[in-house]
Amino acid sequence: MKMNPWNLSVLLLLAGPLGADPDWHVEHPDSFCVVEGSTATIPCSFTHPTGLRVKRVVWCPNHTICHLTTPNVYDSSNLRADSRFLYLGDLVSDCTLKIIKTVKRDAATYHFRFETNGRGWAGQKGVIVTVTEEKSGWRLTVSVVSVLLAVFLLLAGLVFAKRRHAQKTASEVIQKQEVERKQEAVGTSEEVSYSIIHLKPSSSRSAPGPEHEIVYSEVVG
Ligand SMILES: *[C@@H]1O[C@H](CO)[C@@H](O)[C@H](O)[C@H]1NC(C)=O
Repeated sequence: MKMNPWNLSVLLLLAGPLGADPDWHVEHPDSFCVVEGSTATIPCSFTHPTGLRVKRVVWCPNHTICHLTTPNVYDSSNLRADSRFLYLGDLVSDCTLKIIKTVKRDAATYHFRFETNGRGWAGQKGVIVTVTEEKSGWRLTVSVVSVLLAVFLLLAGLVFAKRRHAQKTASEVIQKQEVERKQEAVGTSEEVSYSIIHLKPSSSRSAPGPEHEIVYSEVVG
């Protein structure tokens, strides 16, 4: 069969970069960001030519081939009971990986590999898992809280100052009124003390007639 150049280029395009095989494929996000201490569920799926049976699945950090004795975080043929890396997938098409209570050292590029009764295949790109510090999240929360607190204190301060001013004004008015009242009272007593006292000369002392009355006045301060 003769193949023209155009058909050939279409075939090459379909094959994709690095001659990726459409029959052998691993699909997952390029990167995954998780906050330290929380759980990451990385969705993943894989395909292989029909007629093959998957015998083993493995997830490896920082290794593109992930074969044989390459250190791994999950190995279906060598399960670890206390692992924080749980395989939520199966041996058919799902390779979802769950990492519980992530720690900083989990940060790596994870590759999925599956082996069949024929050949094996590993995802070439891998998923870059980034673990962000829990503190940074807290620092954001803390700064928001502190801003809110500052605004609250400012408003509280303004209200307090206003109330304080109002109280001061009120007490000044009261004081003024009191002073006025006192002054009034003093004024009254002064009026009283200005009363004229008529003193009659003692009768023993011989004297001037009633027409010569002496007028005393006394000022009581
Ligand atoms: C993977 O590689 C990155 C970058 O070199 C490194 O920081 C990280 O510690 C490695 N992780 C593992 C689990 O090997």
